[in-house]
Amino acid sequence: MDKLVIKGGRRISGSITASGSKNTSLPIIAATLLTGNGNFTLHRIPDLKDILTFIQLLHHLGVETTFSDNTLRLSSEQVQSLQAPYELVKKMRASIYVLGPLLARFGHARVSLPGGCAFGPRPIDLHLMAMEKLGATITIETGFIEATAENGKLRGGHIVFPISSVGATGNALMAATLAEGTTYISNAAAEPEIETLCRFLMAMGATIRGTGTTELEIDGSNSLKAVEFHNVFDRIEAGTLLAAAAITGGEITVNGVEPEQMKAVLKKFVHAGCTVESTEESISLKSPRKLIPTDVTAKPYPSFPTDMQAQWIALMTQAEGTSHVIDKVYHERFNHIPELNRLGAHIEIHKNQAIVHGPQKLSGTKVMSTDLRASASLVLAGLVAEGTTEVLRVYHLDRGYEKIEVKLNSLGADISREKYNEF
Ligand code: UD1
Repeated sequence: MDKLVIKGGRRISGSITASGSKNTSLPIIAATLLTGNGNFTLHRIPDLKDILTFIQLLHHLGVETTFSDNTLRLSSEQVQSLQAPYELVKKMRASIYVLGPLLARFGHARVSLPGGCAFGPRPIDLHLMAMEKLGATITIETGFIEATAENGKLRGGHIVFPISSVGATGNALMAATLAEGTTYISNAAAEPEIETLCRFLMAMGATIRGTGTTELEIDGSNSLKAVEFHNVFDRIEAGTLLAAAAITGGEITVNGVEPEQMKAVLKKFVHAGCTVESTEESISLKSPRKLIPTDVTAKPYPSFPTDMQAQWIALMTQAEGTSHVIDKVYHERFNHIPELNRLGAHIEIHKNQAIVHGPQKLSGTKVMSTDLRASASLVLAGLVAEGTTEVLRVYHLDRGYEKIEVKLNSLGADISREKYNEF
C-alpha cells in the first residue's frame, strides 16, 4: 500500500491549475451509455482511481475506451452486458449511475448494491424510487438491483425527492432523457455537477428545462447522439488547495476555475481572515497572520459543501478560538476527527456538531485515511504539523485528488509517496 510522508511547516504558495471535476466526470461518462450513435470525446477528465474504476465498469459492459492526457474517447455502440458486478461496484458507490442510462436505453439493468465511502448510512432508495416513477419494476435479489421497464421503455413521470440528492437527480435525469413523454423532477439537486450533466445531455440532443434550479422538466427523446465535451473544474480540489495555503500561512492562485461556483466556500475563507480575489477564471487567496474561528454548516448547493467540511475542520484547528461545524448532508461524516486529534488537535463531537478548539500546535505521527475527504483533511493537518506525518491508506485520497502530492510539492510542500505493509 502507499502512504504519504509529509514534512510539515512549509508554506504553500504559488499558482496551480485545477483538475477536471471527478463528480461531474462520473455522471457524464455514465450518460455516454445512453447512445450507441457515434464517438464521444471528453476533455479534462481527471486521471483518478474512481475514473479508472468507472472505465473498467464500462469495459465490462462492452464499451470501448481510450484514455490519455485527460481525454477520454469512447463509444457505447457495442454494449454487450447490462450487469454491473459486485467486484466493480463495491469499489465505488457512483457505479449506481449506470442504472438510469442502461434501463432507459435497453429497458433492463442489473446493478450490484454499491459500496464506497464509509460515512454513515448511504442508501440508494431515492435512485430506485425515481426509476419506479418512470415506470420501472425494481426488485432486489442476492445483492443485485434488478430493474425492468415495461415493454422495454420508460415513461415520463413526476419525481418528487423528499431530500436533495445529487446522485439520484443525476440518475433520474439520464433515465428521463429517453423516456416516453415529459418528466418533472421536484426538489432536484442544483449542484454544479448536475448543471453540467444537464448541459452535456442537452449537447447530446436532450430537451431539459430548469437547468441549475431545483425544478427540472425533461422531454424524452427517441435517440441521442455522441458529442465532444469539455468538463468543468473540480471545485472541491480547488477548495482544498486554497485551504492548504490558508493553513500554512501561504498565498496561492488557483487557475482554471469558475469562482461563482465556490461562493459559499470563498465567503468562509474571507470570514476566517483570508484575502480572496477572483477573476473570471482564477481565485487568489492570501492567508492572514491569524485565522479567525469560523462556523460552517454543510448543506446542499449553494451552501457550503459537505465535501469541504473535513478540510474546514483541519483549517479551524489553527484558528484563534473555537468554531463549530455541522454537516446536514451526512450527519455522521466525522471519521477524520479522531485522527486529527491524534495529531494534537482538540476537537469534540456533540450531537452531530464538531467543536474545534484552536489554535492547537499539531505534531506529526501516523494517521489513517478513512475516506476521501477525511484523507484530504489529514494531509492539510500534516502540512502544518511539526515533524513528519504519515498518512496511511492513501488509496482513499487517490480516488479523488489527481497527483495531489505533485501539486502540493510544486507549491512548496515536502511530501513523498512510499510503499508500506499494513501488518
Ligand atoms: C455526491 C458526491 C459526494 C457528495 C454528495 C453530497 C459524487 C460521486 N459524490 O454523492 O462527493 O458528498 O453528493 O454533495 O458525486 N440519500 C438517501 N437516499 C438515496 C440517495 C441519497 O437518503 O437514495 C441521502 C444521503 O444519505 C445523503 C443525502 O441524501 O444524506 C445526499 O446524498 P447524495 O447527494 O445522493 O450523495 P451522492 O450523490 O451519493
